[in-house]
Amino acid sequence: VHRVDPVSWDDRIQDRLEGVRRAGRWRAPRTLDALGPRGRLAGGAADLVSFASNDYLGLSAHPGVIEAAHRALDRWGAGSGASRLVTGSRPVHDELESRLARWKSAEAAVCLPTGFAANLGVLTCFGTPGTQVFSDELNHASIVDGCRLSRAEVTVYPHGDMKQLAKLLEANDGPSIVVTDSVFSMDGDVAPLVELCSLCREHDALLVLDEAHAVLGPDLPIDERDTMMVLRVGTLSKTLGSLGGFVVGPRPAVDLLVNSARPYIFSTALSPADAAAALAALDVVCSEEGEGLRRRLAGLVQRLSPGHLTPILPVVLGSEDAAISASQALLHQGIWVPAIRPPSVPPGTSRLRVTLSAIHRDEEVERLAAALSELGWPRPVEG
Ligand SMILES: Cc1ncc(COP(=O)(O)O)c(C=O)c1O
Repeated sequence: VHRVDPVSWDDRIQDRLEGVRRAGRWRAPRTLDALGPRGRLAGGAADLVSFASNDYLGLSAHPGVIEAAHRALDRWGAGSGASRLVTGSRPVHDELESRLARWKSAEAAVCLPTGFAANLGVLTCFGTPGTQVFSDELNHASIVDGCRLSRAEVTVYPHGDMKQLAKLLEANDGPSIVVTDSVFSMDGDVAPLVELCSLCREHDALLVLDEAHAVLGPDLPIDERDTMMVLRVGTLSKTLGSLGGFVVGPRPAVDLLVNSARPYIFSTALSPADAAAALAALDVVCSEEGEGLRRRLAGLVQRLSPGHLTPILPVVLGSEDAAISASQALLHQGIWVPAIRPPSVPPGTSRLRVTLSAIHRDEEVERLAAALSELGWPRPVEG
């Protein structure tokens, strides 16, 4: 018998939206007309400086990067047309992959449409039935979703807890995968890579390391690279200022991704312009200029938070209202720092998430420091 659902889709959608509003979690993107960190909000009267982007070295606005994207557009057009196994790669895809592999001292690399897709691809490709995945509780949403989509058993271990991870590995007699961010995107802290590597080596586990935010490290310990199976996931969208994701590792593992990772097989390849921009950005990163940019970024981090290791600085305020009003107060001073709330972070830990870029000016960072100190956040050490 055909039954008619008494609740319409319109009502369902309205109900859910009402739930979001009632919880005070309504969000909508704002429009910032900007190149690099400086711009103006749509309808706004004054310029502002953004401390919201992951463009850590400012390479999205680098003239050489922009020029490379222009040249690629002129030569190969706007889109790639289909997935690479169907339409073939453009030469720039191949060149980018071999440069990425060289950069990470790996045998091979494969690019995917985004970093998000790269995590989905790796975890679904290797997380087959009978496999155990151990995942840090603060891993990025793309890892969480990759775990959910995989056919593996998934166990979430407490954040950075190597003792617990050791016990879990010990108790598993089948194949294991350990997956972790190397820099955690909302807390800006780092994973204990030395311990992770030695545990994975000891238990013959595949280590999947998401290095999306690792512009200042930590790097994989050099002597571990050849003695264990590690796949490093990265993105072209943060340090490299473009768009796309990648995975580097041993050639057979990359071949398997090409042959079975669905986000690679069933999604259109990176646009040639995105690939060319990332390739030009990589040239900068590997040059003296890149060294200088990283040194400058590290210096700005030390100015704002001595001893901190990454350009992601969480200012945890607790309630969602506190985070929203702090973000609003900064905006009135021409400073854009996003309020991060559940579900991006656990309830009760809403925060401002400050990200620094090498191309922020000294006086902009000083202004931010002064504004944060009004919120009770420690002022940087002078000098
Ligand atoms: C740790 C981590 N992994 C993966 C991603 C996804 O990368 P992309 O933005 O290229 O999809 C992000 C980005 O937000 C991230 O923070």
